[in-house]
Amino acid sequence: MSQPNGGTFDIVILGAGSGGYAAALRAAELNLSVALIDKAELGGTCLHRGCIPTKALLHAAEIADQTRESEQFGVKADLVGIDMAGVNAYKDGVVSRLFKGLTGLLTHNPLITVVAGEGKLVARDTVEVDGRRYTGRNVILATGSYSRSLPGLEVDGKRVLTSEHALRLDRVPNSAIVLGGGVIGVEFASVWKSFGAEVTILEALPRLVAAEDEEISKTVERAFRKRKINFKVGKPFEKLEHTENGVRATIAGGETVEAEVLLVAVGRGPTTANLGYEQQGVTLDRGFVITNERLHTGVGNIYAVGDIVPGLQLAHRGFAQGIFVAEEIAGLSPAVIDEAGIPRVTYSDPEVASVGLSEEKARERYGDKVVTLTYDLGGNGKSQILRTQGFVKLVRQKAGPVVGVHMVGARVGELIGESQLIVNWEAYPEDVAQLVHAHPTQDEALGEAHLALAGKPLHVHA
Ligand code: NAI
Repeated sequence: MSQPNGGTFDIVILGAGSGGYAAALRAAELNLSVALIDKAELGGTCLHRGCIPTKALLHAAEIADQTRESEQFGVKADLVGIDMAGVNAYKDGVVSRLFKGLTGLLTHNPLITVVAGEGKLVARDTVEVDGRRYTGRNVILATGSYSRSLPGLEVDGKRVLTSEHALRLDRVPNSAIVLGGGVIGVEFASVWKSFGAEVTILEALPRLVAAEDEEISKTVERAFRKRKINFKVGKPFEKLEHTENGVRATIAGGETVEAEVLLVAVGRGPTTANLGYEQQGVTLDRGFVITNERLHTGVGNIYAVGDIVPGLQLAHRGFAQGIFVAEEIAGLSPAVIDEAGIPRVTYSDPEVASVGLSEEKARERYGDKVVTLTYDLGGNGKSQILRTQGFVKLVRQKAGPVVGVHMVGARVGELIGESQLIVNWEAYPEDVAQLVHAHPTQDEALGEAHLALAGKPLHVHA
């Protein structure tokens, strides 16, 4: 593809990840011309180094577990082993098919000019790439995030890995320390355990998936104990030493853990350094771009979307923000995105899915005017068929709408669609209780939880 020679556009977008490319597609639909600039592959972290490849690994992990446990279902099968080359070929195949589709979508669009190269904001309306200037009546910053590390913890890609390295490993490590029990930490711990590694998670906060409702953390921890995934919570990491065959991590109090590799999963930082943002007057706070609720930076016509904007670092938030800004620029005055209404799914085994306020956050906001209900998946036929445990927890405002749905158990991520409609449409339990849920599905657990909260429980033990 020949490189365009600069020019003037309605919008210049720096970064073609979930936020940037969604903005480009929506803007083009609205008849706006776009220059979409990226130094790496179109699709960004989510497609190439995040959501998609990780979920492919998690699916392979599920197949390994199902094979191992097949006898429980009367099916005889032996798990002979994990062929990482085969797993990687499957994973890379998924990524490359999606990448091809996305590339076609963007490059064949007559209103979108894709620019390959490293861009820098050199004026309030101009991004420069290899000496060529792309000027926009509007500019969208969408440069995403990178894996953070800790002081004194040097990532070498061999013993000390980020999730990017972990996704490209050509073997299953015998043992792994996972530093950080957040989303990336529990997903990789889950994969590696299913693939046969000895795993220990080290988490500074008092519980795993600490951003979730406390009861969710308890259930994940119970399930991980059962799966023999080790974890140590409440003690921050202190130091790392290299040993003959791997690494030794020390946590507060002096306890040590040894393993072949260590995965650093302590959060992701915004990619905003040395891109000219501050020089053009954009406000950064700990590297994040500060915007108003309409994602405007307060400088010229510069907007920001995705992981560089403080808040949930999720691909679907990036998509939504990209679409929002394109519509804003087109003058459609879109409704402000409600961060609490953004669904969250962690694809470990068990899965965690939630939307809206946790019980704790709801109590901070509404005091004692909060009612909760927990429906155990033990009463749900499909969950019994799958042999999974977990629950659906609803949080409602007393005599008001449902403000939070929190779920844990196999495949509950698939229940997030209905849950987010309930929360975002401010449904009352009585509204949902009227809806008929197909039997036998896990969706029914949502239906039954709302029946119970509406005062007419069906399959609920007293
Ligand atoms: P995270 O913020 O979810 O978790 C990082 C964890 O590391 C926290 O629990 C933190 O307490 C812990 N930590 C920090 N310093 C520590 C120390 N010194 N010692 C021990 N523990 C320490 O960040 P994570 O898991 O790296 O993920 C990054 C981002 O990527 C998140 O915002 C997440 O939402 C997103 N992501 C989303 C996925 C999904 O939606 N399924 C999958 C993977 C990532």
